[in-house]
Amino acid sequence: MPYHSPVLLERSIELLKVSPSGYYADLTFGGGGHSRAILELLDSTGHLYCFDRDEEAFTNLPDDSRITPVHANYAHLSRWLHYFHAPLLDGVIVDLGVSSHHLDEPERGFSYRFDAPLDMRMNQQGRRTAAEVLASYDENALTDLFVRYGELRSANKLAKAIVAARKVTALETTGQLRELVQSVYGRDAHLQKILACVFQALRIEVNAELQSLERLLVQLPELIKVGGRVVVLAYHSLEDKLVKNFFRTGSCDGILERDLFGNTHTPFTLLNKGAERARTEELNENSRSRSARLRVGERVD
Ligand SMILES: C[S@@+](CC[C@H](N)C(=O)[O-])C[C@H]1O[C@@H](n2cnc3c(N)ncnc32)[C@H](O)[C@@H]1O
Repeated sequence: MPYHSPVLLERSIELLKVSPSGYYADLTFGGGGHSRAILELLDSTGHLYCFDRDEEAFTNLPDDSRITPVHANYAHLSRWLHYFHAPLLDGVIVDLGVSSHHLDEPERGFSYRFDAPLDMRMNQQGRRTAAEVLASYDENALTDLFVRYGELRSANKLAKAIVAARKVTALETTGQLRELVQSVYGRDAHLQKILACVFQALRIEVNAELQSLERLLVQLPELIKVGGRVVVLAYHSLEDKLVKNFFRTGSCDGILERDLFGNTHTPFTLLNKGAERARTEELNENSRSRSARLRVGERVD
């Protein structure tokens, strides 16, 4: 099974506008599909920093001296680039979320298709598993995360059921969680979709995905050259909203900041009107491309 099939590969690389001698960062290396396409366009003086918080991704690393692999959360991009004495970057690509490998490897605990420990950490040295979240959050916090990250209806019923179930026995496996969701939503025709939303919500919480993205976005103005580009593939409306807000206004909450004289300054300009989506052929071939939204920001003076 392939580690990951990259989404919107050609279009995202085209929009990155790779300059052969440029310095780039692929912040979500995964199976390396986007990285390999960038390397093809770089000459021997170009360079690519490949970040991933999952060490397993680096089994896909090509043997190429133009790469610096970085096993880290991209939320710490600035620190790492300083550490490597990197120049301002010509471009960055961020392909958010999990890889197919995460969903296809039962023991990583991301998928309701298998019965495995409820882990869901992208970084296997990360501090908190999904089982720990289910064991420690109170009913309100659980409801909140299922509503916010899973847009789940009757989320409070599920949260209540989790709190009741864990008094009897710890929820430690994906199979136990699946059964609990089934017991709450019964024979709902959309059970698969509900399961996907529950698992997605937990995964986003375990990996603090939106917090990492926010921390990354606010660092970018200091790290990208004028004219450099940031290409982002988002798979969840909350991620996409942060990206859109940031490129439009320079802040993740979408509020334009003004100086004493009322002037605004936005470090990036959005290059495409609205998010680009995958075309029909790709939608048919790669189900993951269905929710993909591609946005590109260009650093302005
Ligand atoms: C959708 S996959 C990327 C696929 C890649 N573009 C390719 O062509 O194969 C997302 C990858 O980003 C990594 N990732 C997610 N959030 C991260 C973060 N905050 N910091 C570093 N890596 C992250 C995941 O571990 C996963 O391997």
